[in-house]
Amino acid sequence: MADCEDHDPHALGASHQDDAAAVASEPLPLPLPLPLPRTPASDLALDPGPGHDLNSTHHDYILSHLLASHAYDLEVDSSSDRSQILREPPDRSSDADSAFGSSDANSVTTSLNSQVQNYRFEFGRRYHAFREDQYWLPNDEDEADRLDLQHHVWRMTLDGKLFAAPLAPDIHRVLDIGTGSGIWAIEFAEEHPSAHVIGTDLSPIQPEWTPPNCEFWVDDAEKDWDFGGTPFDFIHARMLILGMHNWKRFFEQAWQHLKPGGWVEVQDVCLPVQCDDDSVAPDDALCKWSHLVHEAAAKGGIDTEAATKFDKLLLQQGFANVKEECIKWAIGSWPKGRKQKQIGVWTHENLSQGLQGISLALFTRQLGWSREEVEVFLVDVRKDINDRSKHYYWVM
Ligand SMILES: C[S@@+](CC[C@H](N)C(=O)[O-])C[C@H]1O[C@@H](n2cnc3c(N)ncnc32)[C@H](O)[C@@H]1O
Repeated sequence: MADCEDHDPHALGASHQDDAAAVASEPLPLPLPLPLPRTPASDLALDPGPGHDLNSTHHDYILSHLLASHAYDLEVDSSSDRSQILREPPDRSSDADSAFGSSDANSVTTSLNSQVQNYRFEFGRRYHAFREDQYWLPNDEDEADRLDLQHHVWRMTLDGKLFAAPLAPDIHRVLDIGTGSGIWAIEFAEEHPSAHVIGTDLSPIQPEWTPPNCEFWVDDAEKDWDFGGTPFDFIHARMLILGMHNWKRFFEQAWQHLKPGGWVEVQDVCLPVQCDDDSVAPDDALCKWSHLVHEAAAKGGIDTEAATKFDKLLLQQGFANVKEECIKWAIGSWPKGRKQKQIGVWTHENLSQGLQGISLALFTRQLGWSREEVEVFLVDVRKDINDRSKHYYWVM
């Protein structure tokens, strides 16, 4: 997260201390607003049993003094081994590279409408056809459900909040890049009636009924941004790692489209998966899988470790108040602590639901595997994910 202060970097605000103990003992504040599916009852028994430490790699890294209070160490708990609508942006005046940049021709809009809704169906999954091969994950209902689940993992991580930046309560213009199912944008709009929220995505998969202060545009964030010239107070981007090829350009455009004093907040995952003890071997299936995702994405020009460079890119761009934080999401219920365990349970569910969608297009299109080879491999990966003696985690 970084502050765009008159394009003039200056000192950090007061920094909260990392109070891991307090975070661990607090009651979880978030009653999940959606029923989350298919979690084994045994995994939900949040038993804070004894265990050994898995020290957090707390790099000198992003995020704000607010988010710093969400840092924690993972300790092993030894007792637990929607219908679619295409929203056209109003009055966009430039015909730059954005999806609906043309202001003049209905025929262009019509053709773009059909382009973005002309989905590609493959392997029983639905993929976007707009800027095909820019992004390899499906855009079907299963994927939207997974994104909603993942959204709740983020809310748990942020103790129920949607962001960490110190935003003014009466914030106005907000942009959510790569909004996915739109859940973040909708909830932000509901919680901030003063705000007008625009969510953009390659796919028009957001719900039709939204709060009046929220709208969705189909747009490729890697093309020139055109939002009518009025800058934003807050730009949010979450889990775009498999869609962005040029983060330097991303931060440059964020800079150009923020008001002085505005904030950008970027939250993402790093691949491959990590493990800090000897419970995992390099040739274990989940390890191999995550290295293959890294390799396949790299062939398409994507760096799955880009999040480790966000702070440098933000500073190079001229942002002030750059704060970075590494957070661990355990995969499974193995860590100690109610919050860490609950995040682990849902991260396990998130990965289990997402495994096929993340793998199929990437492995077949980028690595030349057959669908059968991918599915057979995923059987082993699932076994590995379900092995509670293995202490895998993602760095977020
Ligand atoms: C993993 S999802 C995350 C969705 C949402 N940000 C969230 O956290 O719930 C990534 C989303 O980014 C979108 N995306 C990927 N590359 C994009 C691009 N170049 N421009 C706009 N959206 C993009 C995808 O279509 C997908 O909906």
